[in-house]
Amino acid sequence: MARALSKPRLMLRGTATPPGDKSISHRALILGALAVGRSRIEGLNPGSDVAATAAALRAMGARIEPDGAAWTVDGVGVGGLLQPAAPLDLGNSGTAARLLIGLVAGHPIRASFTGDASLNGRPMERVAAPLRRIGARVDGDRLPLAVAGAYPLVPARHRLEIPSAQVKSALLLAALNTPGMTIVEGPPSRDHLERMLPMFGAEIAVDGGRIALRGEAELRPRRLSIPGDASAAAFLAVAALVVPASEIRIEGVGVNPTRIGLYDMLRAMGGDIAFSNRRELCGEPVADMVVRHSALTGVEVPPEIAPRMIDDYPALFIAAAFARGTTRARGLAELRLKESDRIAAMAPLGASAEGDGLTIAGSGGAPLAGGFAVDPQLDHRVAMAFAVAGLRAKEPIGVAGMACADTSFPGFCALLDALRAE
Ligand code: S3P
Repeated sequence: MARALSKPRLMLRGTATPPGDKSISHRALILGALAVGRSRIEGLNPGSDVAATAAALRAMGARIEPDGAAWTVDGVGVGGLLQPAAPLDLGNSGTAARLLIGLVAGHPIRASFTGDASLNGRPMERVAAPLRRIGARVDGDRLPLAVAGAYPLVPARHRLEIPSAQVKSALLLAALNTPGMTIVEGPPSRDHLERMLPMFGAEIAVDGGRIALRGEAELRPRRLSIPGDASAAAFLAVAALVVPASEIRIEGVGVNPTRIGLYDMLRAMGGDIAFSNRRELCGEPVADMVVRHSALTGVEVPPEIAPRMIDDYPALFIAAAFARGTTRARGLAELRLKESDRIAAMAPLGASAEGDGLTIAGSGGAPLAGGFAVDPQLDHRVAMAFAVAGLRAKEPIGVAGMACADTSFPGFCALLDALRAE
């Protein structure tokens, strides 16, 4: 069903809390499932991506149950995963698929992996190739595929060519049940797993772009509180920046430096975004944010920032569509491999794509023309981006299948509605 969110004389006011960080949530469930004993996780992301990881871990022997608003995880111990009886269906989640392929690879079990039409089109060779080199069998380079894990895998030194936290994490999860030291080297990417592993008692040393992890780890259970998701907050922040007279407060947002490139870019565009009340949660920096409507100016988005804002380009492109002047981003090849082709998805904004770059001419703060509908192709971030664009458009912007926002941010539209003030 198409959903139109455009309303005249609207502003956004009030306080919001984003859902728990999706990347950290997957990792907390996985490490909980590998610990010996009961972990307790508060603030787990409520979306269907993280639920897919939970279901897969249950199918391999972990007990994961609600405990009020929190979750308990009874782990099986590193090396203790059971062979699942049925294919693991990871829905829309690339992170679930890639991390769990790595996890299964290090156990002497077989599992088949499948997903929805979006996930089944995404490349898996980036995890399959290095796992094959250390002794796992991975049949296929896209889902559905089958993994025959092995014990012991070979402790190796991996050198990553692309800045992918999913590949890095898959190799580290395989290494947890591999004797000796595994080394993973490569360009920087989100470091949530490296932060979390020592909290569960793993022996890990991080030195710049080099990670050394001792395998056959004995993990201890933990109590964790997951920070709010900076990539979910991104859509609320951009909404407040582009809708006149808006001012919102977003509380408890994870501000890990590997995740907040978007906020640096929005500020470079003139965005009024203030962080306060900095604190630590789950080994991660967290802050509250106040965002006010701002006159934005187009920018050059340097390719080096991509790993720090890889999921947040759709939000940035919406901000760019309202800026004065032109925004140019380069080095976006990975965006074509996300839940959808996020470069092609921006065509309705009048964006022009050239190679791995994208150029958007902004409206100078004026409302967009609107009067069109997009099909986000099961891509939650594209759906949320156009829902935000529709907040300031002369004619409605429809989003077909807005429900895909539930993969990461259930209740997104209701939260935007709750922030509306006339
Ligand atoms: C993620 C890593 C990123 C990101 C994805 C989540 C993770 O993917 O786009 O949404 O949790 O490790 P890549 O590793 O492919 O860059």
